[in-house]
Amino acid sequence: MEINKVTKEQSDFSVKINYGLEGAYFTESKICKVDGVNGKLYYRGYSIEELASHSNFEEVSFLLLNGKLPRKDELEEFSANLKKERELPKEIVHIIKNITKKEDPMHILRTAVSALSAYDPEADVNTKEANMRKSIRLISKMASITAAIGRFKTEKEYIAPDNSLGHSANFLYMLHGNKPSEKEIKIFDRMLLLHAEHSSNASTFSVLVTGSTLSDIYSAITSGIGTLKGPLHGEADENALRMLYEIKSPDNAERYINDALSGKQRIMGFGHRVYKTYDPRARVIRETLEEIKSSSPEVKNLVDISFKIETMMIEKLGRSHGIWPNVDFFSGPVYTYLGVPIELFTPVFAVSRVSGWCSHLLEYWENNRLIRPLDYYTGELDLKYPK
Ligand code: SDX
Repeated sequence: MEINKVTKEQSDFSVKINYGLEGAYFTESKICKVDGVNGKLYYRGYSIEELASHSNFEEVSFLLLNGKLPRKDELEEFSANLKKERELPKEIVHIIKNITKKEDPMHILRTAVSALSAYDPEADVNTKEANMRKSIRLISKMASITAAIGRFKTEKEYIAPDNSLGHSANFLYMLHGNKPSEKEIKIFDRMLLLHAEHSSNASTFSVLVTGSTLSDIYSAITSGIGTLKGPLHGEADENALRMLYEIKSPDNAERYINDALSGKQRIMGFGHRVYKTYDPRARVIRETLEEIKSSSPEVKNLVDISFKIETMMIEKLGRSHGIWPNVDFFSGPVYTYLGVPIELFTPVFAVSRVSGWCSHLLEYWENNRLIRPLDYYTGELDLKYPK
């Protein structure tokens, strides 16, 4: 029987199998609309372009969690709560320091977030109010944990948060040990805003599967981190930049891409399960490349290679196969400009996406239903046990 990628029609049982749940709806949500045909993205009804131009990550996190933009006083309180939650228990700093040498940063992030629950007296309190407080705790602390990983990975000491700084600025400060420029803060904050939410992507779905059993938010977010780590999902941003370094110069791009495609290799940062046109987030990040490309010869070279690959891939696979740049393709040069080490890209993705994860969890728990799909059994039955 011919199995196609999306469904397998089994006439005698009329079973429709959506492999990878492609095209399957499992719930309703008011958080995010991804229009894959027209390349549009909305957070709570606001287009990503509007938010990227006028808002910031803290305000967008409030919007995602609460369903509305905050009044001035609400945003001030939200920002103050994020600041209150930045400091890490010293035991967590020790765990990060002790495992950093031998662990991938996403393993460290997953381990540290999981351990955080031991220092949260509300870890297993499942009221809406407690879960909102824990969401703010996680949004704040995941940034501190990721900065600490970056410090220990480069054998530098942990830097305590600076509460005179906003969320994005404080992350860069804790990572580098000096206060970032306004331009760096603006660009990093934009990257966090763009990665904050994307409907039922694999890691958000994973968070909801865990939450749907009425487990706790720390367990659910730990599931999300583990899922985001995969190269088909969050880690693509690191691999896209590794590819740019491997290509070395724009002159090598054509040969590299032709060789890769003829070898049936996937080009990281391209293609998407939902977008069959340009990912609107990639458009915004691409514009950011224009702001940074003259910052250093290294960044300029990465940008030039990126533009070369973009043109080639759109010609070869864009219009014909619906394989276009996604959010991960242009991120590498931006994070390089910001001094974020490549192995920290996916943890930074998690630092942002935790807002979306928590928002979906709080929404789903309002009308919870255990997530338990079917698998279609194709094995044997009634075998006799050998005497
Ligand atoms: C993210 O879901 C989300 O919202 C995710 C995300 C978010 O914000 O949460 O947007 C973030 O994960 C973005 C995607 C990051 N991943 C990558 O960039 C990895 C490279 N991209 C692919 O592996 C792929 O495009 C996926 C996994 C993203 C989507 O793949 P699908 O929908 O499962 O499609 P598929 O694997 O069935 O591919 C269909 C065809 C295949 O060719 P054939 O076997 O039919 O000949 O398209 C080809 C694929 O080989 N193809 C690619 C390609 N992506 C798909 N060929 C070359 N390069 C690619 N990047």
